[in-house]
Amino acid sequence: MKKVIILGGNGFIGRNLAKEVAKNGRYIVTSFDWTELDEMYRLPEVIYRKGNFFDINTLDEIACSNDIIVHAICSINPGNSNEKYLFAYKNDLLYTIELCYLCTKYKKRLVFISSGGTVYGYQTRMPIVEDTLSSPINHYGNLKLCSESTLRTFALQQKADIIIARIANVYGPGQDFTKGVGFIDAVIKRGLSKDEISVFGDGENVRDYIYVRDACKMLISLFDYRGQFNTFNLSTGEGKSQNDIIKEVSKHIPGLKTRYIEHRSVDVKEIILDNSRIKGIYHNSILNIEEGIKKYIEYLQGV
Ligand SMILES: NC(=O)c1ccc[n+]([C@@H]2O[C@H](COP(=O)([O-])OP(=O)(O)OC[C@H]3O[C@@H](n4cnc5c(N)ncnc54)[C@H](O)[C@@H]3O)[C@@H](O)[C@H]2O)c1
Repeated sequence: MKKVIILGGNGFIGRNLAKEVAKNGRYIVTSFDWTELDEMYRLPEVIYRKGNFFDINTLDEIACSNDIIVHAICSINPGNSNEKYLFAYKNDLLYTIELCYLCTKYKKRLVFISSGGTVYGYQTRMPIVEDTLSSPINHYGNLKLCSESTLRTFALQQKADIIIARIANVYGPGQDFTKGVGFIDAVIKRGLSKDEISVFGDGENVRDYIYVRDACKMLISLFDYRGQFNTFNLSTGEGKSQNDIIKEVSKHIPGLKTRYIEHRSVDVKEIILDNSRIKGIYHNSILNIEEGIKKYIEYLQGV
């Protein structure tokens, strides 16, 4: 069986991915993270390993002893990127390049998790296809694009085996909006605790929201993909505004309290990602927003 290691395996996407890879049954899966996952959340099928991504010797050993390396670590998000960008350019970008170099050296596959929601920047034509010229407007998206670009250069010049997954806005079990990402998570949890929900701008920003399990299963479908593409949007292909989300959640949790605050300069107006490319490989159904929100609320309520 092939060995898969998930860097950032105890995070939101990492934990869900580890669970789905373990369920898939075709891989030996290791979760690598610098935090320790509480015993009660550990899965018996997953190997847990503690370590720091920002360490060359560790990366060398990881690339040497695994077949598929999933890179799901990022030190910044759009909201904090204006404060922390220098740390991320100096560390995340540099060690991502080191990792790519090592994966190339040992002829291993590198799956890099990029951000479909930020890498493209302002675009007028929706849904956005992968070949669109990217022009991110914040440092988080730019960090992703710099990393992507370097990986694609390795693929062209050194025949690096890379997959770039531009995941849309993910939501679902394991998310924690207090870390700064996750509008749906915030609306549902604040709604359940009867707290006020803050919305940046007029609530008309449109995003492509995907249920975390669907995103993880799409990712797994790329593990052994051997086709002409190396860059993929992982999305539903449907756009919803924050006001649409509030309306949908309020069908299950009435009486939501909302407050509209100043628009953030890091947010673009609209992102809807074309998913034809991944749908050519991944043939399972994808939850729409109504199904996903219902499922996530039921999960949180233990239904
Ligand atoms: N959440 C989203 O909506 C979304 C959408 C698109 C792309 N992404 C990307 O997917 C990836 C995972 O996102 P997430 O939401 O699961 O983030 P997360 O913060 O929940 O998880 C990241 C994990 O990485 C670990 N980590 C951070 N620095 C580390 C280091 N130096 N060494 C070892 N472990 C380290 C953290 O402890 C954490 O468990 C990121 O690259 C993110 O940019 C996220």
